Amino acid sequence: RPRKLVFKVVLLGESAVGKSSIVTRFTRDEFNQYKESTIGAAFLTKEIAIDASNTVNLNIWDTAGQERYKSLAPMYYRNAEAAVVVYDITQAASFERAKSWIKELQRQAEPNIIIALAGNKTDLADRRTVSKEEGAAYAATAGLLFFETSAQSGENVGELFVSLAKKIPWP
Ligand code: GTP
Ligand code: MG
Repeated sequence: RPRKLVFKVVLLGESAVGKSSIVTRFTRDEFNQYKESTIGAAFLTKEIAIDASNTVNLNIWDTAGQERYKSLAPMYYRNAEAAVVVYDITQAASFERAKSWIKELQRQAEPNIIIALAGNKTDLADRRTVSKEEGAAYAATAGLLFFETSAQSGENVGELFVSLAKKIPWP
């Protein structure tokens, strides 16, 4: 019998790593080079077919990465089934910030939350400062899904959300 579930997903990460761009690529298959920094948070939804009989409606909260919005984050990750923590592969500081978001989620979010780590902007490989191995090794140690993505080219963006949706335990 066909089943349809609603899952809440939150995106976290430093400002300008490309959270909104990843969500826009995923929900509308568009990319904007001059994307404005998010104020507060943005809400988007996308339906994905898991297989012939199972559909997931992702309710996506795209949070604002600027420091002044930091205290709002718990409102968005509370009760979330899944989180995507994003860093920019050309900005090592954003990888450190991603690790601190992951620690906060592991302490404060739902104990069973599924977390994916996403190293974004693979199209800028010539400016890379965080290796794929470094990202993958951290993700393995912390028990996270790991993807390197490009919101610009679309690389791995669909795969990221589909893998996440498939990993959420169905009631
Ligand atoms: P806040 O809303 O401030 O937290 O930032 P954000 O994480 O939502 O970043 P946003 O999506 O606004 O992207 C920041 C900048 O990076 C924009 O100029 C985007 O066009 C650019 N950008 C995002 N993803 C990519 C990517 O995969 N490749 C390249 N080259 N640029 C990207
Ligand atoms: Mg944004």
